[in-house]
Amino acid sequence: MVQAWFMDSSKQDQRLEHHRTPPKYLTLDELFKKSGVEYFKLDPENYAEELDMLKKKRGYTYEDNITCSKECLENYEEKLKTFFAEHLHTEEEIRFVLQGSGYFDVRDINEEWIRIAVSPGDLIIIPAGIYHRFTLDTRNFIQAKRFFIGQPVWTPYNRPADSLECRQKYLQRAIKGFEE
Ligand code: LAC
Ligand code: NI
Repeated sequence: MVQAWFMDSSKQDQRLEHHRTPPKYLTLDELFKKSGVEYFKLDPENYAEELDMLKKKRGYTYEDNITCSKECLENYEEKLKTFFAEHLHTEEEIRFVLQGSGYFDVRDINEEWIRIAVSPGDLIIIPAGIYHRFTLDTRNFIQAKRFFIGQPVWTPYNRPADSLECRQKYLQRAIKGFEE
């Protein structure tokens, strides 16, 4: 099951949990209200039907698999650095975890980092225009499906990217409290 918490500000290894003292967790509802991140729980052993419905509903036409591990990812160290640089995209980032685990960090509406711990069965949708980053945890392995509407564009725009239209749109949604 996915968990989300506010991060501490320590500069220790990014793969550690980075809880505050005491830990400060968020519910999925709070996570949505503070960031617009959406979450779906699927059965990691038997997800085909539900995933299909979601793909149709959201219009995801592209799908591939990505494995992040020293063995499977080309330019591993470099890629992990890129993933962990604070960035945004012009479109949603959709990930469905099949194996392993990792952390998606998102900046909430108050500029605080929220860490989202994902494991098999977790499907998260990071909205266009939100600043975020990704890191493996201490297990150093994750395999996930990526989705996209149309031809995929994975380009990260590192912070600052505030003049992009997707950022401005995101901020407008944030002001309205991410009503659906
Ligand atoms: C990505 C994740 C790392 O852009 O945010 O692929
Ligand atoms: Ni990203």
